[in-house]
Amino acid sequence: MKKFFVLSICFFLAVQVFSQDAKMNAFITNLMSKMTLDEKIGQLNLPGSGDIVTGQASNSDIGKKIKEGNVGGLFNIKTAAKIRAVQKVAVEQSRLKIPLIFGMDVIHGYETVFPIPLGLSCSWDMKEIETSARVAATEASADGICWTFSPMVDIARDPRWGRIAEGNGEDVYLGSQIAKAMVKGYQGDFSKNTNIMACVKHYAMYGAAEGGRDYNTTDMSRVRMFNEYLPPYKAAVDAGAGSVMVSFNEVDGIPATANKFLMTDVLRKQWGFKGFVVTDYTGTNEMIEHGLGDLQTVSALALKAGIDMDMVGEGFLTTLKKSLKEGRVTQAQIDNACRLVLEAKYKLGLFDNPYKYCDEKRASSEIFTDANKKTAREIAADCFVLLKNQNNILPLKKSGTIALVGPLADNKENMPGTWSVAANFEKSISVIDGLKEAVGSNAKILYAKGSNLDNDSLFEQRAGMFGKSFARDGRTNEQLIQEALSIASQSDVIVAAVGESAEMTGESSSRSNIEIPEAQKELLKALIKTGKPVVIVLFTGRPLAIKWENDNVPAILNVWFGGSEAGHAIADVLFGDVNPSGKLSTTWPQNVGQIPLYYNHKNTGRPLADGVWFQKFRSNYLDVSNDPVYPFGYGLSYTNFSYSDLKLSSTSLKGNEKLTATVTLTNNGMKDGKEVVQLYIRDLVGSITRPVKELKGFQKIFLKAGESKTVSFTITPDDLKFYNSDLKYDWEAGDFVVMIGGNSRDVKSGKVNWLK
Ligand code: BGC
Repeated sequence: MKKFFVLSICFFLAVQVFSQDAKMNAFITNLMSKMTLDEKIGQLNLPGSGDIVTGQASNSDIGKKIKEGNVGGLFNIKTAAKIRAVQKVAVEQSRLKIPLIFGMDVIHGYETVFPIPLGLSCSWDMKEIETSARVAATEASADGICWTFSPMVDIARDPRWGRIAEGNGEDVYLGSQIAKAMVKGYQGDFSKNTNIMACVKHYAMYGAAEGGRDYNTTDMSRVRMFNEYLPPYKAAVDAGAGSVMVSFNEVDGIPATANKFLMTDVLRKQWGFKGFVVTDYTGTNEMIEHGLGDLQTVSALALKAGIDMDMVGEGFLTTLKKSLKEGRVTQAQIDNACRLVLEAKYKLGLFDNPYKYCDEKRASSEIFTDANKKTAREIAADCFVLLKNQNNILPLKKSGTIALVGPLADNKENMPGTWSVAANFEKSISVIDGLKEAVGSNAKILYAKGSNLDNDSLFEQRAGMFGKSFARDGRTNEQLIQEALSIASQSDVIVAAVGESAEMTGESSSRSNIEIPEAQKELLKALIKTGKPVVIVLFTGRPLAIKWENDNVPAILNVWFGGSEAGHAIADVLFGDVNPSGKLSTTWPQNVGQIPLYYNHKNTGRPLADGVWFQKFRSNYLDVSNDPVYPFGYGLSYTNFSYSDLKLSSTSLKGNEKLTATVTLTNNGMKDGKEVVQLYIRDLVGSITRPVKELKGFQKIFLKAGESKTVSFTITPDDLKFYNSDLKYDWEAGDFVVMIGGNSRDVKSGKVNWLK
């Protein structure tokens, strides 16, 4: 009876979906039957927003193009009033009155900015990550936006790459969970005007740029691609992402923008993607520089490979008609792309109500609200990673005198971090403001800048070229340090807010040296010499090489770029109102030479013995051990968690049986806290070489001081699957090691034999 009921519901839902799709298809077929070739090509054009002023939208250059039916959508334009004015031109003055789609880079929040994505991923809290996307969607949609160029799910194992800041780190499983949570948070089911369309990017392998240099070549085996880089994009597609943005880089010698294998064979045929594909900014035109031909040639290549919308460069707009005449593209290819763009507008409800996202009343009550700021503050605190805390220096007392130093201590502009286009920097909370508010009159906070961002003012200029520049202090390093030492001498503890500026991270911000810039290091060295306890509050958009700091500074709290509420959240954690629980989603190397360094590497035929630095004729370096400074999954707490009693429900299994792995987690410390319990598996023998361990599950558990809990994971053969050398996705019988722990290095393990 129950089965019958479930089947009936499934049947009913399938009929509903089918009839909704049929309705949409009929509507679009009818509309397209009225469209000219030019109007169809116009739908594929996504120019930048240009010169639009609300009162004169119709007469602007873009306005004229819209009236002629030459624009499918616009991006990076905001406010409901402005977007209404532009939409009005489209639906009142263009021949077929087709609404535009309005996109924006809403990457980690809108006006209420959340931590940078790399930071968010360190919360390992899918609810919080989904909430951050939900809040971002609500705020953006209140300002007229219905499409976001997010989530960015590029796996990155090279911290030199500036855009590692925009992704979720090095792991495929964690990255895939986050991809799903983000899509869910943005899109819901599109029924409400607070749901916006996601655009998963940058498809594909953008994060594997050679040498970590942005836009550089990517080349890798298909086995690696499918096992280690593609799954997060697929997870976003499976979660229903409405659109995909392709990447700038080439894959297998063909730029992603013209890569039929990626866009048609994998994305559409294998994964069943039904949405539309957009290029990245001038991605089509850049194929001229890649060496694939002139604008007409590359535009035709892009369309044929699977691009539906052309961002900024207008290659489609200016050449497709000619290419059709010359037989270089087909009518069916243009029709197909046009249909997919129109379908996105239909799904968003824009044909029913082109002004669905243009409710001018919403902005004042839905953007940057106290409730959203509170959420951002709580989430930010959960993303910070306590890297070191010798002698429990942290948390600090809200009494005595604190010396606050460093170029990032009194700076609002840099708190939101890269990609915060809608942020109002003046309203973000600096470290000094956050600390002062937290201590009130109970403690004294003395401030000195202590150093510039870097000694090299040209570097500073390059790093500050795109917004958020850094005001340079004209004093010498010596003078700045002396001032810092003088307030340090009057204080009980020194808090040094140091690291990268926001613009040293993100797009076009690769670094070949990933240490804390020299001027700040000089400051840290001088502070350490005082003998006073020093706490680093570390700002960064990438894993840094901070071996010296780890060896010499007693406490390090990594705060990424925490968003609008950074200063409050930093104070919450520094003073212990919040117990830190973030865990790294990347490996932190000792130096640049070790890169790429990631936990789920292969064993090689000549691995080093455990705990050994160097053995001749083994896979290692003469001048540095193979160890990271901090492993993937690592992060401390103000309390202590211990793991004991790992148990496997069986040591030999068959077929689709399930394995339960349990461990006892105990909070041995004096404070309540949250711990991310991580499950790793190693497939000991395979038809291809397998990683030394792979994350397969995690749970974030809250335990009161002194409390214990049994944490259990269910493992099925699905968790053992991988792509073999024929790219067949399956599992292979054999022995597996199951590991559970608080990071990828320190684990308890058990062994199981699993036969088919
Ligand atoms: C970036 C994308 C972004 C696009 C639109 C490009 O430069 O690579 O991530 O979505 O610009 O602003």
